[in-house]
Amino acid sequence: MRALVVDHTAPHHLRIAEAPDPHPTPRQAVIEVAAVSLNRGEIAFRAPNAPAGVVLGWDAAGVVARPAEDGSGPPAGTLVLTLDTDGAWAQFRAVDTDRVAVVPTGADPGALATLPVAATSALRALRRIGLILGQRVLVTGASGGVGRFAVQLAALSGAHIVALAAREHHADLRALGAAETIATTADLDAPVAAAIDVIGGETLTWAFDSLHDPDGILVSIGHASGDEARFAAPSLVGRQRTITGFYLFADTRRIAHDMTMLAGLLHQGRLDPAIAWRRNWEHSEQAITHLLNRELHGKAVLDVT
Ligand SMILES: NC(=O)c1ccc[n+]([C@@H]2O[C@H](COP(=O)([O-])OP(=O)(O)OC[C@H]3O[C@@H](n4cnc5c(N)ncnc54)[C@H](OP(=O)(O)O)[C@@H]3O)[C@@H](O)[C@H]2O)c1
Repeated sequence: MRALVVDHTAPHHLRIAEAPDPHPTPRQAVIEVAAVSLNRGEIAFRAPNAPAGVVLGWDAAGVVARPAEDGSGPPAGTLVLTLDTDGAWAQFRAVDTDRVAVVPTGADPGALATLPVAATSALRALRRIGLILGQRVLVTGASGGVGRFAVQLAALSGAHIVALAAREHHADLRALGAAETIATTADLDAPVAAAIDVIGGETLTWAFDSLHDPDGILVSIGHASGDEARFAAPSLVGRQRTITGFYLFADTRRIAHDMTMLAGLLHQGRLDPAIAWRRNWEHSEQAITHLLNRELHGKAVLDVT
């Protein structure tokens, strides 16, 4: 089969080449991939550090080509969405059936492919906070893949969202459900009950300091800036606020259920996939360049044909 394989002599460490077909275990279905999406983590960190020849990729939508031998999962021909730690960027991927989600027939695979990492991370981070109906919730990096889903899912849950992003994205983010948009941390005019941070560094410490005391909670999903966060002692000592880390793959129980639910919202038009770039996977180098240069504000989708 053809796949986007790790090649450290290629631009961005990836090249389309021949790769061995996947060998499924009895509990894995083989999916014929129709579309994949790219995530900052797999491009910026995974590809440069993975062994040559490996097929990476977390998010893929496609059709079941061969059902799992143990009888679990959907039958051949079913449109599905898949998430795994590797293997998405290929014509075929083998995935454990508890990470294969059945999605509405007729849904667009490209739109579906935006969901597995970005939308489930946003969903599960919001769940970590708890009930957010009527609460002020700050989302940093709101213009990015995770951020756009966090804004939309928090809005669907009844929160009052404050979105931090460059001014050029404010109209978009309001259309997605943000009640307030701020361009700099200095623009925040009142504390928030909860925050989701994907930027790290000074943004993380500022977001923590912006929480209600007591009971404010911050979920740290990412550190897109790569900067270290330094907390002044008074921001922690004597305060009753919580900061919690997050790692999607640490607990993927019921992830197929979440992907099916998100795909339903997408199909009903209640969730926007926020596709910022979409072309055939032959053009993946262009997408990766844009992503690394921060020229992509939303999800990059590759159609695999
Ligand atoms: N813990 C987990 O399981 C998990 C799951 C998913 C994602 N993540 C992490 O979450 C972070 C966001 O992921 P994503 O897919 O949403 O990425 P993305 O689409 O690239 O979005 C990054 C966001 O951060 C903003 N940003 C601000 N300063 C930045 C800087 N110095 N460098 C890069 N971006 C900066 C970007 O703003 P502009 O639009 O202005 O560039 C954008 O809004 C990444 O660190 C990713 O690895 C972690």
